[in-house]
Amino acid sequence: MPTITVLPHPELCPEGSVFEAKIGESICDALLNQHIEIEHACEKSCACTTCHVLVRKGFGSLSAADEIEEDLLDQAWGLEADSRLSCQAKVGKEDITVEIPKYTINHAREHH
Ligand code: FES
Repeated sequence: MPTITVLPHPELCPEGSVFEAKIGESICDALLNQHIEIEHACEKSCACTTCHVLVRKGFGSLSAADEIEEDLLDQAWGLEADSRLSCQAKVGKEDITVEIPKYTINHAREHH
């Protein structure tokens, strides 16, 4: 089974985490199963950007992003080349390393 390494996030996962995920499981579901409470404001229906993650390793092993995801990602806080919406990106055979951005668009609206 592929391993997901989560880099430390001050609120959601201060120590970081390493755990096994199922192939075909979305990164969002895998995180939630580990009680890493990533936001998922649209209930994983690819209609918000709050589940945005940066995939630091293993990006190419994930299921490909469709056009709707790509369009939405443009609105995500802190977009990078290895950004994905975690509710859409399904784990493949390779291990991946995930960074949860410091803010989501919800936070950005509240605090900035
Ligand atoms: S939870 Fe809304 S796009 Fe993933």
